[in-house]
Amino acid sequence: MAVSYKDLGLVNTKELFKKAYDGKYAIPAYNFNNMEQMQAIVQACVETNSPVILQVSAGARKYANGTLLRYMAQGAVEYAKELNKGKGIPIVLHLDHGDTFEQCKDCIDFGFSSVMIDGSHHSYEENIALTKKVVEYAHAHGVTVEGELGVLAGVEDEVSSEHSTYTKPEEVEDFVKRTGVDSLAISIGTSHGATKFKPAQCTRNADGVLIPPPLRFDILAEIEKKIPGFPIVLHGSSSVPVDKVKMINQYGGKMEDAVGIPEEQLRKAAASAVCKINIDSDGRLAMTAAIREVFTKTPGEFDPRKYLGPARDALKELYKLKNENVLGSANKA
Ligand code: G3H
Ligand code: 13P
Ligand code: ZN
Repeated sequence: MAVSYKDLGLVNTKELFKKAYDGKYAIPAYNFNNMEQMQAIVQACVETNSPVILQVSAGARKYANGTLLRYMAQGAVEYAKELNKGKGIPIVLHLDHGDTFEQCKDCIDFGFSSVMIDGSHHSYEENIALTKKVVEYAHAHGVTVEGELGVLAGVEDEVSSEHSTYTKPEEVEDFVKRTGVDSLAISIGTSHGATKFKPAQCTRNADGVLIPPPLRFDILAEIEKKIPGFPIVLHGSSSVPVDKVKMINQYGGKMEDAVGIPEEQLRKAAASAVCKINIDSDGRLAMTAAIREVFTKTPGEFDPRKYLGPARDALKELYKLKNENVLGSANKA
């Protein structure tokens, strides 16, 4: 039997994005695959009094089981209330990178309050047709939809205007009008994972740290002009903190040439039309660094709580700092 997100205490993105747009901040969209990640996200957002988008990818559904993750998100609503003297915080349950109508429908029928349909790898017209179909079904259930135009670079791809994987500003108005989407993910130089740029694309500062090329704020500004007031989404927005990478390498890991999006650029984006910022890799780095430290310092440890606990605490601290200093979502719940 179908379940509505409204009965689970979840909210869609409509009101949150309106407030974020007007207030010049962005809502954090953090991925979760397990209990510790969910706990850390909720604790961080309650402690900073921030709204949050809990994201579930297809990979997460496969790893943890979609049913369990949905019940965990439902539990997150109650958990937030318990932590916050009965008040709670606005929580969205969002499908990250949905790729078929059926997958989006499944999630909508199962209580998700928001879905992404990522048709960015299809032709423009196919992307429109697929996105429109999802929007029609989602809106009939009060669920909001994120579409995508432009392709985020993989590590292998050369992101350059010659190859034009950036979002084309001249397409956005038509896409938004014809699909009816509620928000649009764009490509302006971010990408997924911990190695977002090749060293050859970067310069190095005096400490040898790789400095990536800046995001294409000129494209973002053109997009804003074409669809004023419309919420924009940035995927691939981990900053890949140098201290976390250093810690991972210090405790036996091997991460070379990891480089992310500088925080000041994300702050600038959050103050613009960007209303949702997706972060996953930074959380993975924080957890991995904490777990490696435990294993290196106490090799005899075998109680999962003794390494997953510190990993959860590290994740919480990282996300609190993101909300306060990068996204600007603290005290906006
Ligand atoms: O966009 C990708 C997110 O980081 C989710 O990653 O597909 O490995 O769960 P995943
Ligand atoms: P990162 O890999 O930069 O954290 O991006 C996550 C993301 O975009 C999830 O959809
Ligand atoms: Zn993404």
